[in-house]
Amino acid sequence: MKKIGVLTGGGDAPGMNAAIRAVVRTAIYFGWEVAGIEEGFYGLVFHKFRKLDSSSVSGIINRGGTILHSVRCPEFREKKNQKKAVENIQKEKIDGLVVIGGDGSSKGAAALSSYGIPVSFIPASIDNDIFGTDETIGFDTAANTALDAIDKIRDTATSHKRIFLVEVMGRKSGFLALEVGLAAGAEVILIPEVKFKIEEICTILKKGRKRGKKSYVIVVAEGAGKISEIGKEIEKRIKGEIRITILGYLQRGGSPSADSRNLASRFGTFAVSLLKERKRGRMVGMKEGKVISVPIEEICRHRKKIDLQLYQWAKILSL
Ligand code: F6P
Repeated sequence: MKKIGVLTGGGDAPGMNAAIRAVVRTAIYFGWEVAGIEEGFYGLVFHKFRKLDSSSVSGIINRGGTILHSVRCPEFREKKNQKKAVENIQKEKIDGLVVIGGDGSSKGAAALSSYGIPVSFIPASIDNDIFGTDETIGFDTAANTALDAIDKIRDTATSHKRIFLVEVMGRKSGFLALEVGLAAGAEVILIPEVKFKIEEICTILKKGRKRGKKSYVIVVAEGAGKISEIGKEIEKRIKGEIRITILGYLQRGGSPSADSRNLASRFGTFAVSLLKERKRGRMVGMKEGKVISVPIEEICRHRKKIDLQLYQWAKILSL
């Protein structure tokens, strides 16, 4: 192996830059060249390559976003585009590729691997919804960013004796909502994995009122339903006002936490080492505190399950 490529795909996540840095510097340590592919899979298809050296990744470990940029690329599902990407990889004499991204990117990585390209996949997403790893790069930072915002909202909820619904990201999963809801001491956490009835939420609110409780923070995963409708339904039943905050994209940005940076550094180094050892088509992951690797195909076949026991505990603690 003489030259590898690296790209970031899908939604940006804090720590992606730290992962790029680790990939580039590990490859240089092995004596290889590195090509950075701009704009993820789109850049692979439309040939947007640039040389990365050690200095091109200096001063980025603390920066959110991705210096390689990222675009959503649904076109990459088409075989003709996958073939174009493979041709470009061969034209550039790239012997191996490191893909950094979320769920969608894992599928792109699996596709390239099926064409015989040696690929390592690094899971990076604020959603933490990738099977085969306990944690994805960026999750810890996003959770802390959302927590900081919810703590501030809590001040207003308490001062004005209000009920707040706060929406956090997570696509179709509730990992971020559960992490943040538990840490924020949210009175209710709504996640897509657990069905809920509006009546149940209202019962919790009414019971709390009887006990003298005056303010509430309800954390809602974006995949759990339309927050404005949930709010309206609750308002109708309790005959009171509700305030809504959607945290949105602020959860994706910002300087990565120590956890996100170090996870990224470990994943980046390991991903490149796998290519050196000729272990192809694998995702690096974290299991019980250890960096491991699993076949990318396997992670694409399974859906990561939420810890329902933890969800139950969060419910008990919020009473
Ligand atoms: O996957 C990360 C994520 O931020 C999800 O939580 C959210 O549903 C989605 O990306 C938003 O996607 P986009 O950046 O394309 O609007």
